[in-house]
Amino acid sequence: MAPIATVIDTDPGVDDCIALLAALASPEIDLRAITVTHGNVELGPALENARRICALAGRTDVPIHGGAARPLLRAPYRGKFHGRSGVGPLELPSPEVDVSAEHAATALARMLRAAARGDTPPLTICTIGPLTNVALALAQDPGLVAGVARIAMMGGAFQAGGNRTPSAEFNILADPHAARIVFASGAPIVMAPLDVTHQAMATPARVETLARLPGRVAAAVAELLAFFDRKDPARYGSQGAPLHDPTIIGWLARPDLFRVRRAPVEICIDEGPAFGQTIADWWGVTGQTANADILTGLDADAFFAWLGETLGRYS
Ligand code: RIB
Ligand code: CA
Repeated sequence: MAPIATVIDTDPGVDDCIALLAALASPEIDLRAITVTHGNVELGPALENARRICALAGRTDVPIHGGAARPLLRAPYRGKFHGRSGVGPLELPSPEVDVSAEHAATALARMLRAAARGDTPPLTICTIGPLTNVALALAQDPGLVAGVARIAMMGGAFQAGGNRTPSAEFNILADPHAARIVFASGAPIVMAPLDVTHQAMATPARVETLARLPGRVAAAVAELLAFFDRKDPARYGSQGAPLHDPTIIGWLARPDLFRVRRAPVEICIDEGPAFGQTIADWWGVTGQTANADILTGLDADAFFAWLGETLGRYS
């Protein structure tokens, strides 16, 4: 199968860094650009981290675009588990690629327009942060959706409950209005919610296996994962770090490792306890048309074998 023409929209972010490193090494993914958004950290540090991760990966061929510095309407909202730098204690190499002068939303719209015309393959937009850039791109011209192969996102929560409020997951909560625009756009959506990312626990044994891989990328990943360990087995069922963002990269490369269920999903934008909640109509009681394929399970051992094999390509 031809590599998937992909743009990753990201707020690096500890788990974003691992997702980017996996995507950059994955033969199944043709990474056409990285677009950066506010989220875990402010846009400035997020851009710096994206540039430095590409330097760690030895890649100077992937354009990096800066995007939205804040959500569409709500107050800016930051991550909790990434440290002030966004990458915990990790020292990353100096950047080797400058930030493009083209705004992320403009770049996404340009690439979607080319895909809609048939000049390029349909574009997979893989979002691993808040959805502000994608909403800004799609809002420019509803016809751009014709260029979307799928929006493959890490985001949302169902039976798992939220990670920043009882009902909402961070990427959606950080810009619920953008999420509402994206889910109403008609673009095909694949979601990796907390329900599946909590099944991708980087336990100490799995981190040790990754750390044994040769090369500087594996050492950086092991350091990131040690920092990201939640040390909360009551919440997560084991020690370790929930590998949120790499999960959707894993789906792109190895969809056979995942279980999927299709349903209509709506985003709550009412101020209050459900603000930012993703609501799935699992049993079709609303009569709404399904708009999302929701990843509900994965073969965790096979996922980590894939991750090790992919990161091992750097050595
Ligand atoms: O809720 C998990 C998501 O929020 C991940 O994308 C993590 O990087 C943070 O952005
Ligand atoms: Ca992220």
